[in-house]
Amino acid sequence: MQIEKLDYYGRGIAKVNNKVTFIHNALPLEDVDIKILKESKKYNEARVIKYLKKSPDRVDVKCKYYNICGGCNISHLKEKLQEEFKENKIKELSRFIDIKDYNKIEYSNLYNYRNKIVIHIDKDRLGLYKNKSNELVEIDKCLLVNNKINDVIKVLKEVIKNELNLKSATIKLGNITEEVMLILEGVIEDYNMLLNTVDVLIINNKVVTKKDYIISIIGNKKYKISKDSFFQVNPSITEKIYNEIRNNIKKLNSKNVLDLYCGTGTIGIYIADLVDKVIGIEVVSDAIEDARYNKKINNIDNIIFKLGKVEDKIKEIDINIDAIIVDPPRIGLHKKVIEVINKIKPKNIIYISCNPNTLVRDLKLLENAYNIEHIKPYDMFPNTYHVECVCVLNRG
Ligand SMILES: C[S@@+](CC[C@H](N)C(=O)[O-])C[C@H]1O[C@@H](n2cnc3c(N)ncnc32)[C@H](O)[C@@H]1O
Repeated sequence: MQIEKLDYYGRGIAKVNNKVTFIHNALPLEDVDIKILKESKKYNEARVIKYLKKSPDRVDVKCKYYNICGGCNISHLKEKLQEEFKENKIKELSRFIDIKDYNKIEYSNLYNYRNKIVIHIDKDRLGLYKNKSNELVEIDKCLLVNNKINDVIKVLKEVIKNELNLKSATIKLGNITEEVMLILEGVIEDYNMLLNTVDVLIINNKVVTKKDYIISIIGNKKYKISKDSFFQVNPSITEKIYNEIRNNIKKLNSKNVLDLYCGTGTIGIYIADLVDKVIGIEVVSDAIEDARYNKKINNIDNIIFKLGKVEDKIKEIDINIDAIIVDPPRIGLHKKVIEVINKIKPKNIIYISCNPNTLVRDLKLLENAYNIEHIKPYDMFPNTYHVECVCVLNRG
């Protein structure tokens, strides 16, 4: 059968007996034989058992765990097609809302871009979980992460030959500084080999190194990152996004700005010199502590941070706000947050989103009062179906 197009997750779509069928690892115009994996009333899921005709847009995937570990899903697409796939996802939003202007996607390196990985450990085996399961897929390295992280994985593999009671390892890397944080869960007796490899070692919440944080540099700003603080995973794209936000804040001539879901205060700090005042709100206490430290090390004094849920803390804002920056997790904005934004009536909103579905839901609730001036996609997560974007709204 012939594949018609790609679905939201990068799977091929074809009709089998008139029923929509989502086929893993199949590209438009490919001719394939399939095996149905799952049947439901409305659709089927299938995998390819034979390629009768392959697409010229298909590439051989370098990773030996592709389609096994569940990390990547569109590596078999040529780079150009990956970008088109993500751009189209954003363009599709115009079926639901009026967007004045679309920008082209910003590319990133296809490989070695990630600064963080979570590894699962089972006795002397380590790796990633199969998609939607707890089944371990053993790996030597991951092609998406920075090679400094792969070096740590190599050492960990040696360590677990003797230490059979570790459960998981999270590795984080600071941009430019290349400082490494390793967070272990489980039991370990001898961790000397690891002390020579990482800058920060935390075992079951206990810090065993002198330092308990790493520093990451984006543009001309330094950021402290602690164990539980969020940090964007792709530093080159992060810098591009933060520069776009900076350019917009400059152009819009904003004075008082809210930075909602502020993490370690990164965006607010990046734009603070352009405005009178920034207020950041974030729910993770480690991240707010980092944000306050980051304010000091970047010599900024016109920013304050509030710890708590945005939906609760935003009600306490009692100054005039002209711009609101929101960078929520995948679930998007809480309804209460949109209600308060509609009361605050900022002139501009800059919405950074990693989920087009929740973005469009939220934009629909704002579109009565705001024009969606432009939207720009960023390839924060190459080889996966995910896309990040920045959306600028002006009060109508
Ligand atoms: C996508 S991250 C953005 C962080 C930051 N803007 C940056 O660029 O690094 C989302 C952040 O929202 C925080 N968060 C999630 N739900 C929240 C809520 N209800 N209220 C406040 N912060 C929340 C998370 O802890 C995380 O730091």
